[in-house]
Amino acid sequence: PSAVGFIGWRGMVGSVLMDRLRAENDFASLDPVFFSTSNAGGAAPTIDGLGDTGTLKDAYDIEALSALPILVTAQGGDYTKAVHSKLREAGWDGVWIDAASTLRMEESSIIPLDPVNRDVIDAGLARGVKDFTGGNCTVSCMLMGLGGLFNNDLVEWTTSMTYQAASGGGARHMREVIQQFGDIHGSVSDQLADAASAILEIDRAVLAKQRSGELDASQFGVPLSGSLIPWIDADLGNGQSREEWKAEAETNKILGRSGKDSIPVDGLCVRIAAMRSHSQALTIKLREDIPVDEIERIIDAENQWAKVIPNTKEASTQDLTPVAASGSLDIPVGRIRKLSMGPEYISAFTVGDQLLWGAAEPLRRMLKIVTG
Ligand code: HSE
Repeated sequence: PSAVGFIGWRGMVGSVLMDRLRAENDFASLDPVFFSTSNAGGAAPTIDGLGDTGTLKDAYDIEALSALPILVTAQGGDYTKAVHSKLREAGWDGVWIDAASTLRMEESSIIPLDPVNRDVIDAGLARGVKDFTGGNCTVSCMLMGLGGLFNNDLVEWTTSMTYQAASGGGARHMREVIQQFGDIHGSVSDQLADAASAILEIDRAVLAKQRSGELDASQFGVPLSGSLIPWIDADLGNGQSREEWKAEAETNKILGRSGKDSIPVDGLCVRIAAMRSHSQALTIKLREDIPVDEIERIIDAENQWAKVIPNTKEASTQDLTPVAASGSLDIPVGRIRKLSMGPEYISAFTVGDQLLWGAAEPLRRMLKIVTG
């Protein structure tokens, strides 16, 4: 079995990763060592088939970390900043698999999404790349769904207009959204129960609650429930948000494209009060006029998870929503049709569980690749 150190395995992304490792029986070929940033010396988790995994090691102990050939962390960007360069400076030559964005755009790192870029990963491994940093959730989910069009070099450019779930902010953000919905409901529950009450009265009361400052909005800054926030991540000062900047930068890095081969990918990123699945509406300019059924065939055939949803009201409302996609590795892709701008312009809408393909699954699969 391969010795692997796990850091940040108890947080939200880490827990999803642990669940997936268990579900795929990956621990059978691993010798896991669990680290903690706050509870060194405490009991490490019990893993079926391995039993007791000893005590938690200190996640800031460079020597203990250096003893392992592979480290997998979902602890977050601050941890990566604090530890990664110290490890490398100390001469550690192991494989670092990470979920944070800290190292993502470094020359020395690869963004693993193997159903889409196994060739880029293999070429990286062959030239000695040791840092593998999972991609931004929106980008990874988009490429899992539409990878067929990109890998067949059919995309001239695309926009991606997103509808991103609360989980992208973190666990506390998800709680905040539910709490806000509950508090809003609580403020009008009597009127709601009375079918004869006036809807405009209810609407006024809801808006008053949302504007009152009484809702806990400590995570998102403003109420999200019953509203939306058309900005995600830092303001780059040029009118673009960091989340929007990532779309083009990371898509091209994942695909191994740069310079004049880069594909323009740009759009607006919007937070909505969904729980854990990110959605995005795309306008794609194809390099050629391809019939819709051929486009659907290419998307569906690319990998086992991309699933074309027929462009009907019934199928779209049932199968192309965050509620339908959450908890599943499937990436539904629907609303595919030619737009009135011309035969090379198509629309598409895709949804993906932000914690699975958007975070944990590419890391789990990268670990599998390096442990053979
Ligand atoms: N930045 C993403 C979001 C999540 O806020 O939705 C991480 O990729």
